[in-house]
Amino acid sequence: MIHPLRGMKDLTFEDGKLFVHIVTTAIKIAKRYGYSYIETPILEATALFKRSVGDSSDIVSKEMYRFEDKGGNDVCMRPEGTAGVVRAFVHAKLDRQPIKQKFYYYGPMFRYERPQKGRLREFHQFGCESFGEASVYEDFTIITMISQIFHELGIGFNLQINSLGCPTCMPPYKETLVNFLIEIKNDLCEDCNRRIETNPIRVLDCKNQICQSLLVNSTKLINNLCEGCDTDFKKLTKLLDNAGITYKVDTNLVRGLDYYNKTAFEFVSNKIGSQSAIAGGGRYDKLVEFLDGKPTPAVGFAIGIERIMELVQMPEASREGIYLGAMTEDAVEKLFPIATAKRKETKVTVEYNAKGFKSHMKGADKVNARYVVLIGEDELKSGRVWVKDLESKEEKTVKVEVF
Ligand code: HAM
Repeated sequence: MIHPLRGMKDLTFEDGKLFVHIVTTAIKIAKRYGYSYIETPILEATALFKRSVGDSSDIVSKEMYRFEDKGGNDVCMRPEGTAGVVRAFVHAKLDRQPIKQKFYYYGPMFRYERPQKGRLREFHQFGCESFGEASVYEDFTIITMISQIFHELGIGFNLQINSLGCPTCMPPYKETLVNFLIEIKNDLCEDCNRRIETNPIRVLDCKNQICQSLLVNSTKLINNLCEGCDTDFKKLTKLLDNAGITYKVDTNLVRGLDYYNKTAFEFVSNKIGSQSAIAGGGRYDKLVEFLDGKPTPAVGFAIGIERIMELVQMPEASREGIYLGAMTEDAVEKLFPIATAKRKETKVTVEYNAKGFKSHMKGADKVNARYVVLIGEDELKSGRVWVKDLESKEEKTVKVEVF
């Protein structure tokens, strides 16, 4: 038997239903906030992720499914959705249009990580990207939207927020941080030592306990923001307070992708083990420009679908549609015109084998049908069908025009 690859999963039956329930709920809410669908290729030029997610990030430096295609091109299976959406946005010249654009997407992402509970090599995200709105009101609106999606799906969460500043306040902060890190360099882990050179901000979210204890005394960017970033961050916290959305300011929250500035956030759940982030996002005002578009502020997020599948209960399915069955061989083909006619309005299950009454009733129950429609010898002669409503238990025979 051939198994799926390590860290990859089939979504069958119940999982498939749950997946569709999550995605349709998220789409319904995203549409209310003005988002429309965007689909971008799974395979992209490697350069796209190097330039956007960042060469020194773990995702790009260690985790990409990267190969040379038959034409000799350096390509990657997308590790995340934002870079492709921004590329598509620039490619379609939407950056030159005065209107604000908002897109949602869902689909598979690929990261060659060490698989564990909640961490897959192929996983699915539902994401949204909003272009052209610089106001912190949009950051607040996006956080509200995610809260609403989780609320509708019955998921509890903790929200962590931070500000990563902007080109005015980040560079001087980085300098102060690097000086601090050099002082404690010998006690920091190998990864942190490498990051001091490549991406010092990422040292802040090192998972190593010793590193974390050494970082307690580091200067925090949140206390060194420029006036504009500081005002926006305070506005965001006030808006969240007023909306009753509880959050924690996490000064070490830097996110694993390099394109963020200002607002960064993560939704976490304490019910799914160590891989607890169920959604993440933030503002990335420089990325469109970085990918050769006109300067366009942007903010977005992505939800990890497999992670929230652990938390979502499928709503009780109500009986739906019609089960059609024949009790004599001659009646089987009489079922098809009825099925075709009824499929214009509802779900229809056709049993191809002639069977006894009890067996059909069991079959109707299995597919959770609302109505059972049966044709036996008597019905064939009279040109009628026997119908039972499995909710009200009402039974009747009905004249059928189609035969
Ligand atoms: P991210 O934090 O890398 O952000 O991923 C978003 C979510 O995807 C995570 O919170 C997690 O739930 C899920 N996820 C990530 N890696 C895995 C994995 N290996 N297995 C299962 N689930 C996983 C981004 O990808 C950004 N593009 C989000 C964004 C959109 N920022 C702005 N716009």
